Amino acid sequence: EPLDFSGVWRFRALFPFASEGHVVTIGEGQTLCLRSDPVATYVGLRPGRLYLQYEGLNPSGSFKDNGMTAAFTHARMTGAKRAACASTGNTSASLALYCAASGLMRGIIFIGSGKISYGKLSQALEHGALTIQIAGDFDDALRQVQEIARQLGIYLVNSINPFRLEGQKTIMYRVLESLHWQPPDWIVVPGGNLGNVSSFGKAFGELQQLSLLSRPPRLAVINAQGANTFYELYERRGLRWNGGRYDPQVIQIYLKELDAAARRADTLASAIEIHRPVNLPKALRALEICGGVVREVSDQEILDAKAQVGAGGLGCEPASAATVAGLRRLVAEGVIQPEETVVCILTGHVLKDPDATVAYHTDDRALFDQKLGRRGVKRATYANR
Ligand code: F0G
Repeated sequence: EPLDFSGVWRFRALFPFASEGHVVTIGEGQTLCLRSDPVATYVGLRPGRLYLQYEGLNPSGSFKDNGMTAAFTHARMTGAKRAACASTGNTSASLALYCAASGLMRGIIFIGSGKISYGKLSQALEHGALTIQIAGDFDDALRQVQEIARQLGIYLVNSINPFRLEGQKTIMYRVLESLHWQPPDWIVVPGGNLGNVSSFGKAFGELQQLSLLSRPPRLAVINAQGANTFYELYERRGLRWNGGRYDPQVIQIYLKELDAAARRADTLASAIEIHRPVNLPKALRALEICGGVVREVSDQEILDAKAQVGAGGLGCEPASAATVAGLRRLVAEGVIQPEETVVCILTGHVLKDPDATVAYHTDDRALFDQKLGRRGVKRATYANR
């Protein structure tokens, strides 16, 4: 009975939309919440206060599988024969794997030009999804795939799909379970399309309604500086959910400014290189439920933090390390206290994006310059080099 082996479907009573006969699962969600004292020291927390939720352990190597199993199950219930997504890499890897493993659907993937990491692209190709590179970035790809999916009746698995977010709620259930249902003070999560933060807030709100959680952890969302729309709107322009009476004008004005400046999202953390997060309103709601904050971190901070995670005996990709970098900032600011308990969500495996990692550690000057030096990033400076 495969349902017993999935760290997602163990919690199906908390997202009861699927009949068991439809469930598509390949063992996703068997992940670990691990204490990390070396990284705690790096960010300025007391030993024993930092946990890393290792979502790289999923079948396709990222947290996306938590949502993909739920979306696929729903797609199967609708009788869909084709599923599509736009992706910075991980959603496409996950979609391609679930298509190949289930044999139920043909996968169609839209990627932006140039930025997807080879680890992720190789997964999409190897699992046999139709992979289309467009002239444009992720935001363009998402607009195009939404239009095409609507016209042709293709099932869309991007995180605007609410069933995906239902599956991603289980990341929080597993964190709470690991901590014996003693909620941590903070959960730190990278912000891209803002699906994770939206689903985490929903999970906490529902657990409170069910009297399974007395006080929700606070959420800290970390943007990359080169893709910081959420930070800009929430922290700089004061946009709030405000019981659903948020001002969508503020979002529109900001996006128009981005267009006028012809600014492209740009960060080494390619997974979160997104200017127009589709879940922005839901994310605002999540931060209202949890008393959240948003921060931005530079590519340098991200790579330095990533190397600390690696040296500490875990591994993650750049977008995931944004959490550790952001946490370090929040401790330095005094927003998070050294004795508070924090969980950082490591969303993707270290093997997802090896190029930046090798460039960061190499002694080959040309390789370093080509990948990092020309972007103003400095080499590894930490002790184990
Ligand atoms: N971390 C990783 C490793 C990701 O791949 C993504 C998103 C995020 C964080 C951000 O999560 O969108 O819920 O805020 N990757 C998407 C993709 C966009 O296409 O793979 P979010």
